[in-house]
Amino acid sequence: MKFTIAVLPGDGVGPEVTGEALRVLAAVADLYGYRLNTAEYAIGAAGVAEAGVALPPRTRDAVVDADAVLLGAVGSPALAKATGDQRPEAGLLALRKLLGVYANLRPVAVHPALRAVSPLRAERLEGVDLLIVRELTGGLYYGEPRGRSERSAVNTLHYDVGEIERVARVAFRLARGRRGGVTSVDKANVLEVSQLWRDTVSSLAGDYPDVRVEHLYVDYAAMRLISEPSSIDVLLTENLFGDILSDEAGVLAGSLGLLPSASLGEGQGLFEPVHGSAPSLAGKGVANPIGAIASAAMLLRHGLALPEAAQVVEEGIAAALAAGARTSDIALGGESILTTCEMGEEVARRVAETRGVATGAGARPQRV
Ligand code: IPM
Ligand code: MN
Repeated sequence: MKFTIAVLPGDGVGPEVTGEALRVLAAVADLYGYRLNTAEYAIGAAGVAEAGVALPPRTRDAVVDADAVLLGAVGSPALAKATGDQRPEAGLLALRKLLGVYANLRPVAVHPALRAVSPLRAERLEGVDLLIVRELTGGLYYGEPRGRSERSAVNTLHYDVGEIERVARVAFRLARGRRGGVTSVDKANVLEVSQLWRDTVSSLAGDYPDVRVEHLYVDYAAMRLISEPSSIDVLLTENLFGDILSDEAGVLAGSLGLLPSASLGEGQGLFEPVHGSAPSLAGKGVANPIGAIASAAMLLRHGLALPEAAQVVEEGIAAALAAGARTSDIALGGESILTTCEMGEEVARRVAETRGVATGAGARPQRV
């Protein structure tokens, strides 16, 4: 089997962590005998440098032709004041819109070996296994009118029922395969948009009688996420609230550098770590590649329908962590620290050594 993945390394630590994700993808492709065609294209500040815009036409063409898109990160201090299509972040938002990836899945679990890394007490982390489903192509990020003048600025929060329903259905369906709970987060005590969100989610709930639904205000949800994180199964929310709560959830896992995401819609999926370009870490070989590698696992599962290969990668990550592999963000005092590259190698080696993979179309016979 042959797949084409458009790889968009982007800015800051993006190229480093994406390189490790590609190393692991190559190992898993070799294990199963898949051919992965991975060509790289510019986005963000790299796109501005190459073509004068954050989402160059060549990149646009490549992503729509690919089977899936793997992205590193965008953002650059040098372009912090850039406007319009020269803002690195605008390139990412345009990409999400182009692909129509309205549902952003951000799973958060605590690896047993990393319980001591989180600043939260270990007993609070017991049983934490949640999935943030963030609406990704609407809300304040995209609403018109928008703009600013010297002393005033405007952004618009707008959602319609269709936009809310389609992402809520994703959350309900995923909850069915998990612990059966949806926690919908809004600010319905203040915002009309949130009242529509709450009413829409409530009326859909009738289609999923086996799913428990609760509605929380976002301020209380921010507290619940750290005071009782194991009480949440699927957390469904709009674009900006989801952005904020997913960084907060990174604290549960021990580091934002561990968290992956999958952005899904009607067509190709987009897979990227939750963390940003982290300019202060860039080029030093210190970034944690696990968020990017785990995003590659989500790409295998959701983007290419290769759930077994995804599991092999996830097991490789878990085994590396269990064996004590640590980048600096997840190391405790006295633990030896791996570079970005060494961590990627630790995972890739375990993937390559995986035994007993099932054979399927195009797959090799079992390796023993
Ligand atoms: C994320 C990032 C992006 C977002 C930025 C870089 C535009 O923070 O994916 O969470 O806000 O969506
Ligand atoms: Mn974010």
